[in-house]
Amino acid sequence: MACVLKVFPRIAFAAVLASAGPAFAGSMSAGAQAFQAQCSICHRTAGKAQAAVGPDLFGVVGRKAGSQQGYAYSAAMKHSGLIWTPDELKLYLANPQKVVPGNKMPFPGLHDSTRLDAVLSYLETLK
Ligand code: HEC
Repeated sequence: MACVLKVFPRIAFAAVLASAGPAFAGSMSAGAQAFQAQCSICHRTAGKAQAAVGPDLFGVVGRKAGSQQGYAYSAAMKHSGLIWTPDELKLYLANPQKVVPGNKMPFPGLHDSTRLDAVLSYLETLK
């Protein structure tokens, strides 16, 4: 499948970026930097339903899981019945496969709680 071919090189790239981590300096907030390093490879935040590896995350906080128009979610995500409250997002981002078994986000989870909080604060600005 075409999307599988697209996803794998990006995982390798995301891993390189993730290990670069805090080396991203500049005036961005810690959350924006962490998002840039670990999420932006797959997620746009412009609020437009453009094709990317993952759904656009504009307005994700408070949104029903699997509801971004125009994005082809996995059945697992579409039928998860979750609402992305800050608490639910934290649980998901710490361990995506545990919270939505069978979802197709190829991301192992954010295990550093400071970083997780920072990414969450950043997601809350996307509205
Ligand atoms: C290698 C690609 C990739 C990376 C890296 C990645 N994601 Fe995802 N993400 C996806 C895909 C693909 C989905 C769709 C999952 C599905 O449909 O099962 C997704 C789904 C999501 C969802 C659910 C959105 C919705 O509309 O229900 C959230 C929230 C999310 N990702 C946040 C993040 C955050 C925050 C990061 C960084 C910490 C991140 N993702 C890193 C690919 C990725």
